[in-house]
Amino acid sequence: MTTRRVARALAVLGLLFAVYTPARAQRAILDFDRDWRFHLGDVSGAEQPAFADSDWRRLDVPHDWSIEGAFSDTNRAGVAGGALPGGVGWYRKTFTIAAVDSGQLLFIEFDGVYRNSEVWINGHSLGKRPYGYSSFEYELTPYLHYGSAPNVMAVRVDNSRQPNSRWYSGSGIYRHVRLVTKNRVHVDHWGTYITTPEVNARSARVRVVTTVRNESPDDRPITVRTIVSDAAGKVVATASAAGSVPPDSVTAITQELVVRRPNLWSIERPTLYRAVTRVECGGAACDEYTTPFGIRSFAFRADSGFFLNGRRLKIRGVCLHHDLGALGAAVQDRAIERQLQIMKDMGVNAIRTSHNPPAPELLDLTDRMGLIVMDEAFDMWRKQKTDYDYHLDFDAWHARDLSDMVRRDRNHPSVFIWSIGNEVMEQWTNGDSTVGPLARELAGLVRHLDPTRPITSANNNGSPQSEIFHAGALDLLGHNYHHEAWPNFPTQFPGAKFIITEAMSALNSRGVYEQPSDSLAVYYTPYDTTKRPRPNPNGRISSYDNRRAFWGSLHEESLRLFEQYPFLSGMFIWQGIDYLGEPTPYEWPARSSYFGVVDLAGFPKDPFYLYQSVWTASPMLHLLPHWNWAAGDSIDVWAYTNGDEVELFLNGASLGRQRKQGDVSHLMWRVAYAAGTLRAVARKNGRDWSAAEVKTAGAPVRMALAPDRVSIQADGTDLSFVTVTVQDSAGVAVPTAEPLVHFQLGGDARIAGVDNGDQINHEQFQADHVRLFNGKALVIIQAGRTPGPVTLTATAEGLEPATVRLELRR
Ligand code: GAL
Repeated sequence: MTTRRVARALAVLGLLFAVYTPARAQRAILDFDRDWRFHLGDVSGAEQPAFADSDWRRLDVPHDWSIEGAFSDTNRAGVAGGALPGGVGWYRKTFTIAAVDSGQLLFIEFDGVYRNSEVWINGHSLGKRPYGYSSFEYELTPYLHYGSAPNVMAVRVDNSRQPNSRWYSGSGIYRHVRLVTKNRVHVDHWGTYITTPEVNARSARVRVVTTVRNESPDDRPITVRTIVSDAAGKVVATASAAGSVPPDSVTAITQELVVRRPNLWSIERPTLYRAVTRVECGGAACDEYTTPFGIRSFAFRADSGFFLNGRRLKIRGVCLHHDLGALGAAVQDRAIERQLQIMKDMGVNAIRTSHNPPAPELLDLTDRMGLIVMDEAFDMWRKQKTDYDYHLDFDAWHARDLSDMVRRDRNHPSVFIWSIGNEVMEQWTNGDSTVGPLARELAGLVRHLDPTRPITSANNNGSPQSEIFHAGALDLLGHNYHHEAWPNFPTQFPGAKFIITEAMSALNSRGVYEQPSDSLAVYYTPYDTTKRPRPNPNGRISSYDNRRAFWGSLHEESLRLFEQYPFLSGMFIWQGIDYLGEPTPYEWPARSSYFGVVDLAGFPKDPFYLYQSVWTASPMLHLLPHWNWAAGDSIDVWAYTNGDEVELFLNGASLGRQRKQGDVSHLMWRVAYAAGTLRAVARKNGRDWSAAEVKTAGAPVRMALAPDRVSIQADGTDLSFVTVTVQDSAGVAVPTAEPLVHFQLGGDARIAGVDNGDQINHEQFQADHVRLFNGKALVIIQAGRTPGPVTLTATAEGLEPATVRLELRR
C-alpha cells in the first residue's frame, strides 16, 4: 500500500470508530461524549459487538431523547412529567485502546443515565443502575481488546415504565461520560475527602484522607504526597506519608496540612484551592489526582440561623429541578451557568437541588460562583408517589445511591446541607415503627461519610408528632410551606435548628396582567374539583403577585416572614425557574410549571424584582405592567424598589408619591390609562436613587435580536442565548407582539432549541421557528467546531427582518 492509501484507510477507520491511544503509566481522563450511535426503541442483540448499528443515528452525549419528542396528553409521563415521550433507547460506541495500555486499568464513568441503565462491554454486562440521578463507574479492563481490534460499549436505557417522576426527567445518557485509565495502584473512585476542621484568619488546618486502591496481586508500598496550591497556582502546603496497600484492597491515608492566612470561600469571594495527590509506587509516580476544595467554617444556630466564616448570613435560596428548559435534561454547562447567573442577579445565594443529586458540573459552578447548596438524594423512600418511581428500587439501592452522592459531592465547598428526602410519604404514617429507624439509617449513612454538614429532610407535615421529626435523625428541621406556623417553631420544637426547605408556590405567567391587581386568587389542584376559584380557562395566570397554590403563599407573604425571624436560617423558593412538568393548577394542555420566578425560557417574571428589591443593594426600580392598553382602562401600576419611596409620572404629570412600609412590599397606583410614557423615580434617604420608564409601543415594525454573548467558543458545545423581540418604528419593544418568527443560520452552528416561556405552547423545542409570547422568545444557538462568523436572521410576516452576527472563537 502507498502511504497515501494507508492514510486513507486509517482515516476511514477513524470515521468508523473512535481511536484512543493514551499510553501512560498514570491516570488519563478522556472525554467519552462524542460519536455514539443511538436507536430509539428496544432491539434484541444490540449488546453484542457484532450487532450492525451503521444505520443508527450518530450523536454526541449528553443526550435527552424525550426533549426531541412531541407533547401529547397520551404520553404516559403525564403532564406532571412534562407530557413528553419516554420509552427504551440504545446507545453504542465503538473504540480501540492502544496496545501499550494493556498493563493499565480502564474504567468508564457515567455522570447520570435516566433511567434503568444496563451497560455492556464487548457483550459482557457490567451492571445495571436503576436511579437516573446517580453517577457510577464500571471497570472495563478484563473485557477489553487492545491494538486495532475494536471494542463495543452498549447501553440500554429503559424509561418506558411511566409515570415514574413528578417532574420532567428526560431520557438517555443525559450527563457526561469519561474513559479513565489508571495504574493498578491508584486513588480510588471519589477517593479523596478533604475537610477543614479548624479555620481562622491566621491559619487553617486541612485534613486530607486519601483512599488508595491496589489491584495488583502483591502488597504495594506507597508514598502519598499532597500538594495544596492557592487560586493563583502557588503551592501553600505539602505533606507526604508512606504506607502500604495489600493486594486487591484499599488503604486510607490521613494527612494534616496547615494553610497560613487562608483566603476563605465565601459568597462574595468563592476562593478555591487545589489539592494534587501524587501516589508513588517504588519511587515512580503511579497516580496523580486533583481535588478542588475550599476553606470555610460554618455553623447553624437554633436562635440565630446560619453563620459563614463567623458572619451571619441568611440563606436566600431557590429550588431548581434539573431541566434546562428547551434543552431538556441534557447537561450543557453554559446553560446551567446561565440559570445560576440569572438566580444570582435576583439576589439568590443558595440552590436546593430538588429532589435529586445534580450533575457534577452544577456543583463545580456553585463552587466557583459562590452559591450555597442543599444537595438532595430522594423524592421518595419506600412509599410511592407515582406508580413506577424509585420506591420500587429503594430497598435494593438506597444505601448505595445515598452513599455515592455523599462520596461524590463531599469535597465541594458550596455544599452545606445534605437532604435525605423531600416530602416522603412516610411523614404521614403516624405509629409506623419502621419510619424512625429508616430515617436514622439514612442519616447514619450520610453522617458516617461526612459528619461536617447538617442533615435535613424537607417536610410538609410540620407536626412535631411526625415520625420523621420524632426519629431524632435530623440536624436541621426542614419545613415546606405552612408559613403561618413559622413564628411558633421555637416553642413547638424547643432547641431545634430550622430551615424553610420550600416556600411560596406562587403562580404566574410572564407578561400577563389581569385587573384589578388586588383580586387575590388561591388555586387548588386540578384533582380537587370541590374547591373554588378555578384559574381562568385560557391557561395563563396573572403576573401580579396575587396568585398562589392553596398550600403556598404569595411571594411577599413568605418573604416578609422569612426576613423577620432570625431563627430561620434559610429559605428555598418553590421555584426559581419554571420547569417542564407539574403545571399546577392546570392540566393538559398546560405542560410546564407556573411556579418559577423566571419563566422556562429564562425571562424574569415581575416577582423577580421583588426579590431584587429585598436581596440586592445596587439601586433598582422596576415598574409593571407594560403600557399598551385601551384608552380609559383602569390599570394597576406596581413598583418594586430598594429605595424608600417612589413618585410616578404619566406623560410628565405626577400621580403621587408612595412610601414603602417595611422592606418587603410593592407600591401601587391605580391609573386611568392614557398612551405615552409612565416614568417613576425612586428616592432613598431623600436623594434620587433609581429611575424607570415604560412607554407605549406603536405598531410592530421590525424584528430585533439580542444575544447574551456574541463571541462564543468553537468547541461544539458553547451556547449563545438570543432574545427575540419586535420593535415599533421608534425602537420600543412591543410587549403584546406574538408573531411567528423563522430563523436562518449561516456558519458552523445549529439551533439547539427555541422557547417562549408559555406554559401551554405545544410547538417542539427543536425547531427553526417560534411564536413570541407577550413580546418575547428565545433561540439558543450552539457552536460547531469551526472558528469564524455565524449569522442568525429572524424573519416574520409583515416585519423587517433582523440579523445578528456571532463569532465562534478558537
Ligand atoms: C411541594 C413538592 C414539590 C412541588 C411543589 C409544588 O410539595 O415538594 O416537589 O411539587 O410542592 O408546589
